[in-house]
Amino acid sequence: MNRASRIPVALAASVAAFGLAACERPPTKSQQLGYRGVGMEQVKNPRTDAKALAAIKLPDVVPPADPGGRKASEVYKNVKVLGDLTEGEFNRVMAAVTEWVSPEQGCAYCHNVEKMEDDSPYTKTVARRMFQMTRHINETWKSHVGATGVTCYTCHAGKPVPQNIWFSQKDQTAPWRLAGYTAGNQNRANQHIGSTSMTADPFTDLLGGAKSEIRVQATKALPMADSRIGTPQSASIQATEKTYALMIHMSDGLGVNCTFCHNSRAFGAWSQSTPQRTSAWHGIRMVRDLNAAFLTPLQPSYPPHRLGPHGDAPKAFCTTCHQGQAKPLAGAQMLKSYLELNKASIK
Ligand code: HEC
Ligand code: HEC
Ligand code: HEC
Ligand code: HEC
Repeated sequence: MNRASRIPVALAASVAAFGLAACERPPTKSQQLGYRGVGMEQVKNPRTDAKALAAIKLPDVVPPADPGGRKASEVYKNVKVLGDLTEGEFNRVMAAVTEWVSPEQGCAYCHNVEKMEDDSPYTKTVARRMFQMTRHINETWKSHVGATGVTCYTCHAGKPVPQNIWFSQKDQTAPWRLAGYTAGNQNRANQHIGSTSMTADPFTDLLGGAKSEIRVQATKALPMADSRIGTPQSASIQATEKTYALMIHMSDGLGVNCTFCHNSRAFGAWSQSTPQRTSAWHGIRMVRDLNAAFLTPLQPSYPPHRLGPHGDAPKAFCTTCHQGQAKPLAGAQMLKSYLELNKASIK
């Protein structure tokens, strides 16, 4: 090979190597989820799956409290939520939440340790609401969390601030930029929407508590806004992109493809969807409820550095619990060992 032809060959080889750099190393395995020929399958890589599973470290279970004893409400001075527990159960829960939320900082993360009943640390006010939220999830959202349920560890995983939270982003006032059109928060890629150019914040509208419509496909021919029946029959491109951005977040958050829930020839059709799509439907309603009833109203309790760029409180979405797994913590049923967090089970 002469020198002149070596250069293009070397160039082609490095371009090919660069192209392949984004590819995943085998092995890959696919699992069929729907009828033959409809492409409903999940592609998995056992090597990366094993790595993700190994990263999930469940904390040791705190030994159960001895039965009986006085109620915490009688023993302590300022107990507003967990007063139904016995003193033993109450102390067990305090030990567990320290392990789940603030293992490095200890009790002092939420307490003025000179005066445990003092409510002045903002973290204690937030944690009290978190106890109510966790029980609320386990009691009223069985349609989503089943018997697996959640503990503080599902979201916090040993950290005071869960790794995956979101804040609202405001629409841009001067959308034309060199780097692209940014109205509707488009072209502002971020990790929560799979780095796509679709709206950077589908969450405020679709998971923030308001009941914006996620369905965008028309259900009749020639869809036009029909003023006589008062309902628009077709969604705008922006609304459609919002739905797709949310769907990408959901897929990413659970570590699955669209076909985990849908038959992609008919995204809207429930009759061709998997049972997981029904779980997801309840999950969407649950997340809206958690954000509207618990997380957003905590805004006045937080110090300014915990708030978003527009002053709103940190909120939850699918990834907050799921963290890349189809079932949070790969389906580990921690709640079974902590029935203190499921009030309905307390006699
Ligand atoms: C993540 C926050 C958090 C951590 C960490 C925490 N606590 Fe608490 N603690 C609370 C909350 C919230 C309450 C109030 C519960 C209620 O109102 O039902 C409370 C109440 C108490 C009370 C009752 C005080 C009174 O007289 O009213 C005691 C005692 C207590 N905690 C002990 C501990 C101990 C000991 C630790 C460390 C092993 C600890 N807590 C760690 C959040 C926390
Ligand atoms: C559904 C997910 C979820 C669950 C379950 C959950 N939390 Fe939280 N928690 C959050 C989010 C989101 C925040 C806001 C993060 C922030 O403060 O920036 C938060 C914040 C907190 C904070 C304030 C941390 C800080 O430094 O600002 C404390 C303390 C806390 N949670 C304690 C608990 C306790 C105790 C439990 C269990 C009883 C619990 N959480 C269960 C999602 C959750
Ligand atoms: C975990 C399950 C799940 C995954 C994964 C998922 N979806 Fe969805 N999808 C749903 C649910 C549930 C709805 C209905 C939401 C509602 O009405 O509240 C929906 C609705 C839709 C709609 C609107 C259908 C209509 O009737 O207008 C489209 C389009 C869609 N999904 C596309 C996608 C795409 C594309 C992906 C992959 C990037 C995806 N979905 C991944 C559960 C899922
Ligand atoms: C508060 C924590 C929490 C949040 C937030 C959450 N989930 Fe879940 N999800 C769970 C738990 C726990 C399970 C396991 C339920 C079980 O074992 O039956 C689960 C199960 C599922 C499943 C069934 C998986 C399977 O393999 O059958 C789907 C689908 C799902 N979630 C979708 C979602 C979507 C989509 C969102 C966001 C809109 C979401 N979840 C938000 C806790 C959560």
